[in-house]
Amino acid sequence: MCGIIAYIGDEDAAPILLEGLRRLEYRGYDSAGIITIDNAGEFELKKDVGRVQDIHNELNLLDLEGHIGIAHTRWATHGGVTQANAHPHVSNNSKIAVIHNGIVENYKDLKSLLVSKGFHFDSQTDTEVIPNLIEYWMDSKGLSFIDSTIKTLQSLEGNFAVVIIDRDSRTIVGAKNGSPLVLGVGDRKKNEFFLASDIPAFLDRTKDVVYLYDGDMVILQSESSSPRATMKGSYKILDFRARTKKPIIRPIQSVSWSLAHAAKGEFDHFMLKEIAEQVETIQKAAAQDRELVQSVTESIRNAKGVFLVASGSSYHACLSASYLFAKLASFHINTVIASEFSQYESFLKPETLVIAVSQSGETIDVLDAVKTAKEKGCHIVSIVNVMGSSLTQISHKTLLLNSGPEISVLSTKTYTAQLALLSLLAYSLAGRYEEGLSKLKFLWNIVYNLTAATTRTKIKELSTTLANHEHIFVLGRGSLYATALEAALKIKEVSYIHAEAFAGGELKHGPIAMIKKGTPIVIFVSKDTEKTILSNAMEVKSRGGYIIGIGPEPIESFDFFIKVPESNSLNPICQIIPIQILAYQLAVILGHDPDKPRNLAKSVTVR
Ligand code: AGP
Repeated sequence: MCGIIAYIGDEDAAPILLEGLRRLEYRGYDSAGIITIDNAGEFELKKDVGRVQDIHNELNLLDLEGHIGIAHTRWATHGGVTQANAHPHVSNNSKIAVIHNGIVENYKDLKSLLVSKGFHFDSQTDTEVIPNLIEYWMDSKGLSFIDSTIKTLQSLEGNFAVVIIDRDSRTIVGAKNGSPLVLGVGDRKKNEFFLASDIPAFLDRTKDVVYLYDGDMVILQSESSSPRATMKGSYKILDFRARTKKPIIRPIQSVSWSLAHAAKGEFDHFMLKEIAEQVETIQKAAAQDRELVQSVTESIRNAKGVFLVASGSSYHACLSASYLFAKLASFHINTVIASEFSQYESFLKPETLVIAVSQSGETIDVLDAVKTAKEKGCHIVSIVNVMGSSLTQISHKTLLLNSGPEISVLSTKTYTAQLALLSLLAYSLAGRYEEGLSKLKFLWNIVYNLTAATTRTKIKELSTTLANHEHIFVLGRGSLYATALEAALKIKEVSYIHAEAFAGGELKHGPIAMIKKGTPIVIFVSKDTEKTILSNAMEVKSRGGYIIGIGPEPIESFDFFIKVPESNSLNPICQIIPIQILAYQLAVILGHDPDKPRNLAKSVTVR
């Protein structure tokens, strides 16, 4: 929910941290701040509410001095959106600063303890207890910075990723416990290292990363760290939960993402870029290691009970796929919203298979669900986009979407990538792997046309018509009901227009009461549902509704038609694309930022 970036090395930290904040802003953007240690050994801190660029225009973040610093973009959890609540937070003695992603669930107790010891607090955040606890252990118990940090981390309850900077020893410590944190290994000649919530934050500086695991605490020191520093220009990883400080070795891996992936290119927004990338990303999702797919297929076949677990768009992809498993392989898969999964705990056995689907691999509800399942001995398969994310670390097998970084808060290319991969699994389970692969390859041309500028121009007409409506309804049947749910979510989360999806057959069970003259209804049509869904269209039409038909052929009752050629079982992959474009265009017309919708963050890492 928040963005973390830290730098230590021989270059000025401020420009690197500012660029990192810009690349992380999709993770949270109600306030931001940077702190560095200047050449005189003092902290220099600037932070405020607002977007990173606005804060920079106001405060000039580039004139912070020093080669070591930490920076943060915030998505408020504890405490309002105020300058005082922005990170970094500094200890009372101004020697320790912290940035934090997650929640300190026991912060009230810790805060009371510190207040009883004479500490004061400047913010309403839970985070502010961290630097002061470290100060407490250092000053009143005489522990070193590292030992004080370990004791502090051990006293925190809840999921967190924290980065802590010690002014006197010029040391940075990063610790991961349920929220994302990755180490970037920069130019060794410049002794440079990075810590960040997500790889794009430092991708322009290095592709060499060390994926940190829960419990990992990494210590970074530069050449200019204090004389007592024992690891000048290097790093060390240890387990802050362990009794000993035995170093842990984690491999340095090179990521395949290019900087172009993490840049907007010729597009105005990441959302439009990522919609257009679907021509390739659907194919990349299908290009899986065959043996791995076969192995997962066997796990599904041999399991006694299979659950698909996800949140948001990822849940819609799972719901859509569950129809395909039934239709192609006559296989029943329970599809459960991650935050509801604990209700099914009594069904979980060691023979149960849980397939967790998450673009970020950091959604706390999904991580909680998987941990619950693992406690019951279940086998865990995950379908994830971000390599090395928390979910991949707790799964027995992982299938990667290979979509590259998805920067826009909205899931678009990773949604269709999830559909493609889940469809391939359904075909594989039906013993029709090759057929599934070729059908997915066939989509290339359809998706190319759907994302082309000509189609976008046609949809723009529709977006100008719909922009002033308060409500938009969406109907679909079969797997296209899940598509309707996803379409409604896309429209809601980026245009802020109320959009609601119904299974076509439910229309007459109440929702039809909402229809009046001009009410816009999007209707997804496919060959296998056309008879029934078109009767829904007529029912709506006869009550004055404005019908937007999406499917292979127009019918006269449609007021607006978007052609999406029939692709049978794979219709959900193609039919969502026009609505992704529509949602994007509505946001632009209404003056919203499609990449950073209000109140949202890319990854929901707090409950
Ligand atoms: C959808 O556009 C949103 N980005 C959101 O619903 C998202 O799909 C959900 O938060 C799940 O995220 P995940 O795939 O990273 O777990």
